[in-house]
Amino acid sequence: MNVYDSEVVLSILKKEGYDLCERLEDADLILVNTCSIRENAEQRVWGRLDRFLQEKKHRKVLVGVLGCMAERIKQDLLSHPAVDMVVGPDSYRELPTLVRALSEDAHNKQMEIALSMTETYADIEPVRMDKNGVTSFISIMRGCNNMCTYCIVPYVRGRERSRDPYTIVQEATSLYNAGYKEVNLLGQNVDSYLWKDPANPTKSVNFAQLLELVALVAPDLRVRFSTSHPKDMSNAVLYSMAMYPNICTHIHLPVQSGSDRMLEKMNRKYDSATYLERIDKIREIIPDAAITTDIIAGFCSETEEDHQATIELMKNVKFDSAFMFQYSQRPNTKAARHFEDDVPLETKTRRLNEIIELQSAISLERNKDCIGKIYEVLIEGTSKRDSDQLFGRTLGNKVCVFSAPGYKAGDYAKVKVESCTSATLIATLIE
Ligand code: 5AD
Ligand code: SF4
Repeated sequence: MNVYDSEVVLSILKKEGYDLCERLEDADLILVNTCSIRENAEQRVWGRLDRFLQEKKHRKVLVGVLGCMAERIKQDLLSHPAVDMVVGPDSYRELPTLVRALSEDAHNKQMEIALSMTETYADIEPVRMDKNGVTSFISIMRGCNNMCTYCIVPYVRGRERSRDPYTIVQEATSLYNAGYKEVNLLGQNVDSYLWKDPANPTKSVNFAQLLELVALVAPDLRVRFSTSHPKDMSNAVLYSMAMYPNICTHIHLPVQSGSDRMLEKMNRKYDSATYLERIDKIREIIPDAAITTDIIAGFCSETEEDHQATIELMKNVKFDSAFMFQYSQRPNTKAARHFEDDVPLETKTRRLNEIIELQSAISLERNKDCIGKIYEVLIEGTSKRDSDQLFGRTLGNKVCVFSAPGYKAGDYAKVKVESCTSATLIATLIE
């Protein structure tokens, strides 16, 4: 999401004559796009600001903080001696004006942090910063209305709004025409995507329909999406996925916890039985689907029994992979205001480590199931470990490494999996 936002920012500033540079030492303007989701993400930004201050000591350079942290702690950031401007996620169109004001008077620090009910940057064609030229992101909606009690996103990214589907299709088409072979549709909760035509309120497009529209751009343009929400993921989305071979068979479906008591306290609005029913439905409609998840260890009042419920659910579902976190209290969220962050740090860490260890064994097991099977892989580049090897992904988003002389990034290759680790499939080329 933040990469996409940075691409929007670059597009806005390019029109003003700015461009990307590789080295900090060459920059006239330094922008840091920030994330507030966990405390350690914010800590890293403070470290960077101190580094920028050193840079400012010996030359003229402007520094701006963008994104969630700008929204959350605007005043604190503005007080940092390195910071010249603070710009929230819905105010990027103001950047040229703010930069101009600063260029005229560098002492006049700038701040723009209003959240919007409508801004989706729909008309802005982002300037891509990725290096591979094969896969790219498209933001389809902004904000979130879910109010999970631990989560800061609704406070820093504002209310949910869906982007005009025709601008999404247009963006996918122009990426395809530029040689891209995969688009990843992004939203905090893609299942609640719903666009109503302002000119005709009876006309609307939901996420299942949007998926089809994007899948129809070109049969060899792969379509991915994230993130799905267990309470909203409809069978219609699964049927769209099953119907179009270029929609990737991968669902990222964060469970957060296996304990019904925790899920209730997190305000996730589903219980473990409903979650498992969704998993069964996915596997019924798309038998070879890869399912990944997010898990939080040590949320407020989590007992050993709650933790075991998460472990049991993981063993039951057998996720292909997972992002796993220990709970990090975020200021002003409902959890911070009403619940005690009472699981000791050592316990959180121990539980997280148990979860990571189990998931790594399950990921290995899931990857072993791929051995002997044939997959179509979209090549993304050369392997970091061995420049003679290429790497790409299967439709299920598994990273696959293989040797394929004459092939290049952006090509499709059919490969047979010979062996694996918990993170990678090792394959040979078939055609
Ligand atoms: N602490 C730890 N993890 C969190 N996430 C969101 N908020 C927090 C928090 N306060 C995790 C959730 C979410 C993912 C994007 O980040 O698992 O799905
Ligand atoms: Fe945060 Fe919940 Fe919205 Fe995800 S769905 S962004 S966890 S509030």
